[in-house]
Amino acid sequence: MRIDILCLFPEMFVSPFSHSIVRRADEHGLVDVVTHNIRDFAHDRHATVDDYPYGGGAGMVLKPEPVFEAVEHVWHATGLVDAPVILLTPGGRPFSQRIAAELAAYSQFTLICGHYEGIDERVSQYLATDELSIGDYVLTGGELAAMVVVDAVVRLVPGVLGSGESAAEESHAAGLLEYPHYTRPEEFRGWKVPSVLLSGNHAEIAAWRRRQSVLKTAARRPDLLDNVTLSDKERAWISESLLNRS
Ligand SMILES: C[S@@+](CC[C@H](N)C(=O)[O-])C[C@H]1O[C@@H](n2cnc3c(N)ncnc32)[C@H](O)[C@@H]1O
Repeated sequence: MRIDILCLFPEMFVSPFSHSIVRRADEHGLVDVVTHNIRDFAHDRHATVDDYPYGGGAGMVLKPEPVFEAVEHVWHATGLVDAPVILLTPGGRPFSQRIAAELAAYSQFTLICGHYEGIDERVSQYLATDELSIGDYVLTGGELAAMVVVDAVVRLVPGVLGSGESAAEESHAAGLLEYPHYTRPEEFRGWKVPSVLLSGNHAEIAAWRRRQSVLKTAARRPDLLDNVTLSDKERAWISESLLNRS
């Protein structure tokens, strides 16, 4: 998979992508993340990429020409003109594990990071094929949002996670939050690890984990349960825990 990132601060990506899973994916040739400085596509000798907003108002707006030309440069370099071109913006579709999985199935996509007050609207209308937001808050630039998207997608690319790591049981993979984890010591400051996890009984451990996952989701993110199929027994666990809490 190849991911192209168009931004004003490519140097911001060096450290986050030099560690852990993204680095491993790169070293194994599974993912190639290429950053491009939008400024390199400016038209004047001052490398100007922003200008005042028509109609007045605070802040500057990223000009359309360098952004369009940066994307066209990527198309030229890769020969892939129909890969997704995603604009990162607080007005985009909320990024989710489902969207991460969809992106992980592509062989290439491009992320456009805005800055200042945002980007000329013609980028959204005539260049971007999708728009994503990483949350209901405003960041200074799209670089951090791009890092979040790349990290979440790369770990879902087949072969990136090692055999001992699995994305299938993680929070949001099947709509539920993940069950709690424990490691040694068995007792820490008087707090014990649930005995079922020490039992060696795999069926009981799986059942305990499923129950914890269902109850944790019901307590913290009941909105997620709208998209999950639960058995009658699992619904009864939730009713019982709600009764115990009231
Ligand atoms: C200061 S923000 C611009 C915010 C814009 N004036 C607005 O109110 O929607 C600059 C850039 O940061 C990025 N950005 C900020 N918040 C984001 C978010 N929640 N998700 C994705 N990108 C974001 C976008 O690329 C945006 O163009």
